Amino acid sequence: MSLKNSPIGVFDSGLGGLTVVKELIRLLPHEHIVYYGDTARVPYGTKSKESIIRFSRENTEVLLRYNVKMVVVACNTSSSYALPVLRGKFSLPVVGVIEPGARKAARVTRNGKVGVIATSATVNSGSYVKAIHRCDRRARVFSQACPLFVPLVEEGWTSKPVASQVAREYLGPLRKQGVDTVVLGCTHYPLLKNVLQRIMGRRVVLVDSAREVAAEVKGTLEEKGLLRSAGSRGRGKRTFLISDRPQAFEKTAKEFLGYNIKAVKIHV
Ligand code: DGL
Repeated sequence: MSLKNSPIGVFDSGLGGLTVVKELIRLLPHEHIVYYGDTARVPYGTKSKESIIRFSRENTEVLLRYNVKMVVVACNTSSSYALPVLRGKFSLPVVGVIEPGARKAARVTRNGKVGVIATSATVNSGSYVKAIHRCDRRARVFSQACPLFVPLVEEGWTSKPVASQVAREYLGPLRKQGVDTVVLGCTHYPLLKNVLQRIMGRRVVLVDSAREVAAEVKGTLEEKGLLRSAGSRGRGKRTFLISDRPQAFEKTAKEFLGYNIKAVKIHV
């Protein structure tokens, strides 16, 4: 089988990476996708650098069993720490989610004040601050860790009053700083977009990097001659693998994707 027909591998600690899958499906409908959500070990955002790197390596190895042609690290926490390790260890293309989001934020800010909301591990890594400064050295970046957002999303509680209450606490400092752009630096956060937009106000741009990531994946596949769409008919096959609790995953996945999916629990 030609490598072009191999699937794109995508992983996250849980459900969050589905926001990236949704954009991949929109942009590259002919591509096969194998998604792996490490639901047994979610959240990653409160773990150590060593654990995050090890989990990311193991997730890539899981995807390799499915003969993937590239890996999308659809997790900001993993992308913050593990990209160089994965690129050094594995010979296939590896795309992360930090650079695309940072580039977009630097492009859209008008007053040069950018907020970044992310897991504690992502904030502590400084990955967004560095990536935004690579695009615009004068940008002022204000980071805020939001550790309670991932459990709220994984629980499907995105429109309960508690979500607004927690978001108001976390976003307070960013509102005070007068940021005009906020990077959703965790792939779970697009599900809280309505709440976040309401609290930040209509004039603040929320940057969801999923669309930029999908564009980068397409560019990489084109560059390597690995794009399936040319000449292939029919939509790609999508496989959803997880390390624990498939029913819980399927239930919340519907909110991410808008339709039902079947999740398969695998042994790792
Ligand atoms: N969705 C992931 C991220 O983008 C990780 C969230 C977590 O597991 O803490 O950072």
